[in-house]
Amino acid sequence: MSEENSNEMIELDVEQDVWDRTYTVYSLLIIGSKEEDGNYNFAPKHMAMPMGFSNHFGFIGTPRKSTYRNIQREKVFTVSYPKPSQLTVSSLAATQREDDDSKPILDQIPTTPAQEIDGYFVRDSYFQLECKLTECLGKFGEWELIVGEIVAARINKKMSRKVGDGVGEGQLIYDNPLLAYLHPNRFSVIKESNVFPFPKEFKR
Ligand SMILES: Cc1cc2nc3c(=O)[nH]c(=O)nc-3n(C[C@H](O)[C@H](O)[C@H](O)COP(=O)(O)O)c2cc1C
Repeated sequence: MSEENSNEMIELDVEQDVWDRTYTVYSLLIIGSKEEDGNYNFAPKHMAMPMGFSNHFGFIGTPRKSTYRNIQREKVFTVSYPKPSQLTVSSLAATQREDDDSKPILDQIPTTPAQEIDGYFVRDSYFQLECKLTECLGKFGEWELIVGEIVAARINKKMSRKVGDGVGEGQLIYDNPLLAYLHPNRFSVIKESNVFPFPKEFKR
């Protein structure tokens, strides 16, 4: 093993937030949940992903936030994957609550109802998941992993890929760009993409 790169690395203090010290790439999505007063809440999340390939979805939340408490109570949540044109809406969904715990900005967010659960999506999001809470795992500091089973899902026709059509897939993303969140404070609109160079006869 060569050691010639080692002086390019900076040792980090793991007692501090290491995620703040560089950029890493995430999906940005919006969790929908039902509030105690019957209104529907939206909150952007980047610490979120599929739990394997078995139609489970998980994200990191905290009991300090309404989203967590809403899902504990109602046992369901929605996931909306926004398009780049929905960046502002995605950010505004994180607006600080008023003193009475209300979030008036929610009235400005266009919605569309879920079909199988009691919930709403951000309208025009390109990928939508309806989830039933299955478990809450952790703690990781104050944070917990909230996992749901996907009981219904839909995708915008323009973003629906035809499996195996490698060339067309590049065009699909070019024509319908993806939104990436670059933690801690940037975003990117992804148009350019390439087929991943999987090893020969790779199986997942
Ligand atoms: C870009 C972005 C990413 C975020 N990612 C997360 C996340 O992964 N987990 C989390 O708990 N909060 C995350 N937040 C913060 C919450 O979504 C935000 O505090 C939200 O307003 C929660 O409010 P609530 O009280 O309605 O649940 C993120 C906020 C922004 C702006």
